[in-house]
Amino acid sequence: MKLIDTHCHLNDEQLYQNLDEVIAHAQQVGVEKIIVIGWDKASSELAIKIAEQYPFIYACVGFHPENLEGVDEKQLNEVLALSSHPKVVGIGEIGLDYHWEKDSQKREIQKQFFIKQIEYANKVGLPISIHSREAFQDTIEILKEHKPMHSGVLHCYSGSVEGLQEVFNLNLYIGLDGPVTFRNAKTPKEVAIEVPLERLVLETDSPYLSPHPLRGTVNEPANIILVADEIANLREMSKKHLLEVVYDNSCKLFNL
Ligand code: NI
Repeated sequence: MKLIDTHCHLNDEQLYQNLDEVIAHAQQVGVEKIIVIGWDKASSELAIKIAEQYPFIYACVGFHPENLEGVDEKQLNEVLALSSHPKVVGIGEIGLDYHWEKDSQKREIQKQFFIKQIEYANKVGLPISIHSREAFQDTIEILKEHKPMHSGVLHCYSGSVEGLQEVFNLNLYIGLDGPVTFRNAKTPKEVAIEVPLERLVLETDSPYLSPHPLRGTVNEPANIILVADEIANLREMSKKHLLEVVYDNSCKLFNL
């Protein structure tokens, strides 16, 4: 089995404290490549440090919309400058989070940071990893106006089946993870069935979003196998074929 976890946070303390063990688990189930995603300056730097230690681990750097408090232009530029490191394969995670942010002025700040980071990715020729929570229409509007020139992924896609076309019109991928396996997750399961295979990548977002039946535990990249199992079942296709296509998609997207 060839697996790639295209979005996880080995740089989160919950995983970093057992890093060797967590990576060994992933390798046991066939995870061949892992992309560690930053959410602020320290986590982006740690993502790179981890990527330097393991040849099959890569990093993305950027400011997550929930981590903008007190961040100035200088700090943003420092993080974006990290992308010149040879193990950095994308800018992320960047985007909009209206679930946690209700204040309209702060949402404006999220938009400004999102746009600046897309434009930087375009300048340096990297794809983007997009976080969008309860902000689908604004996310799409920004992406239409500031088109990612080197593609990207709507990570943990939580939109509708109808919304998929907007994503593919922008030449982007969607990432699916734990919620697909949740018993009550109607929409993610529909999305997993309807998404064209060549537009899909898999991820864990670990240590968050543990798949069923591990909900509530600390998630880790090895659990991507549960996400793959569920999607293969839902699509009534062989897991081997699913994983081959998804592997190629992931390598193409992040130039691995
Ligand atoms: Ni994440």
